[in-house]
Amino acid sequence: MDHKAELPPHVLIFPFPAQGHVNAMLKLAELLCLGGLHVTFLITPGIHRRLLLHANVQSRFETYTGFRFESLPEELPGGNPHSADRLMQLYYALNIAAKPFLRRFLVSSRLGDDSRRRPVTCIIADGILSLALEIAQDVGTPIIFFRTISACAFWSYFCIPELIKAGELPLNGDDMDALVANVRGMEGFLRRRDLPSFCRIADLGGHDFQMVLNETQQTPRAQGLILNTFEDLEAPILSQIRTACPKLYTIGPLHSHLKARLREKRKLQSTSSNSLLQEDRSCLRWLDEQPPKSVIYVSFGSIAIMTPDQRMEFWHGLVNSGKRFLWVIRPDSVPGKDGEQHGSTELEKGTKERGYMVGWAPQEEVLAHPAIGGFLTHSGWNSTLESIVEGVPMICWPYFADQQINSRFVGEVWKLGEDMKDTCDRVTVEKMVNELMDVKKDHFTKSADEMANLAAKSLSEGGSSYSNLDRLIQDITLMVV
Ligand code: UDX
Repeated sequence: MDHKAELPPHVLIFPFPAQGHVNAMLKLAELLCLGGLHVTFLITPGIHRRLLLHANVQSRFETYTGFRFESLPEELPGGNPHSADRLMQLYYALNIAAKPFLRRFLVSSRLGDDSRRRPVTCIIADGILSLALEIAQDVGTPIIFFRTISACAFWSYFCIPELIKAGELPLNGDDMDALVANVRGMEGFLRRRDLPSFCRIADLGGHDFQMVLNETQQTPRAQGLILNTFEDLEAPILSQIRTACPKLYTIGPLHSHLKARLREKRKLQSTSSNSLLQEDRSCLRWLDEQPPKSVIYVSFGSIAIMTPDQRMEFWHGLVNSGKRFLWVIRPDSVPGKDGEQHGSTELEKGTKERGYMVGWAPQEEVLAHPAIGGFLTHSGWNSTLESIVEGVPMICWPYFADQQINSRFVGEVWKLGEDMKDTCDRVTVEKMVNELMDVKKDHFTKSADEMANLAAKSLSEGGSSYSNLDRLIQDITLMVV
């Protein structure tokens, strides 16, 4: 008898090679390994090196005998992207480089030259890499997409053709506060300024806009769609998405889901960080010395950049608020030599007294720290979920892409904080920090606690995300022929 018939299903996971995407998809990889599946994680050599160096993934993943990394043969221009432009450059380069490699990989996997694993039985590809769809269909391997953004962002991308048909895109007129009528389920609160940043262009023929549009329209062609969200958070939008993508698996918040399943299996792990940059853990010791819920954590994720002026406005606002703050300033986040600028004596003094700055933080641990009372964030989806899980209210300063719509949901729909989009002045920063940490603290903390409880419920046995992950694993198992 063929001994391979006894082997578990083999999933190839193919993320877009940037922090926010790798982070979520590597957590999924670990969850599938815990569920008994074999996983190959396809990544660029640079990201692979960084994961080994900074996230210590080698020792973490050694315990999963069915897991392995597979590197694309060459480094791509754009590296680990730290700006929207480089992100697009990386996307185009990946499309060229990955196609032949992926095809060869799947074909040779079919030939079955690895006795310890089956040929790939299912692909889980990043939802912006439809290149994998064409190849999967050619070689006859089932494919599921994983979109690393929120359901609300995905749905707004999906509805773009309707916005164009109705004449709502391109945006005409200057009234960015006018309501958008053609994103079903969001009538009544979605303003033009809340649409994904790609919509803020006059020429809809541009490459970036077309890419987002085309990639999203491919989604229903896959066997299923995985979203890192939970039913209680986005139920009305999820029911809209199900009209186009009925096989929908909501299995988030993934970082917390992974922790829960590790606990269940009594697997102790000091960290499940998938950081591509060196974390400065000294901030945790600084937090240990601060009173409960007294610190606002400030971080704008892995891609957002700001001008030197914007940085100064944030700095003044934070110091003027009189609140304690922990601020992540990535070395490359303020381009230009002015990024090195120093503050006035007053700013330096206020920072020394109440602030702490690092280049990159162990964010999940920071948000879980009892000293944290608020999060000034760019509204990246991982950051938003990490904040929701810990019941930390947010001030949102979205930078690009999905972040514009995430922040609208945080402020207007979920009432988990304030949306500061399109504004960056010291007076507003000071006012919002004071509202979040003081004046409206009880109000926001109450809704944040309620949502954190719903997130936890979804991850407990029988909860929606818990059951959906089991269903995903079952469905992947049924794909084995
Ligand atoms: C962007 C998008 O906005 C996001 O929604 C999409 O899914 C991926 O691309 P990014 O800017 O990376 O993401 O933000 P976010 O999704 O919040 O991910 C950042 C990750 O880096 C988070 O998991 C966060 O914990 C981690 N991080 C951030 C750190 O570990 N340390 C830091 O100092 C800052």
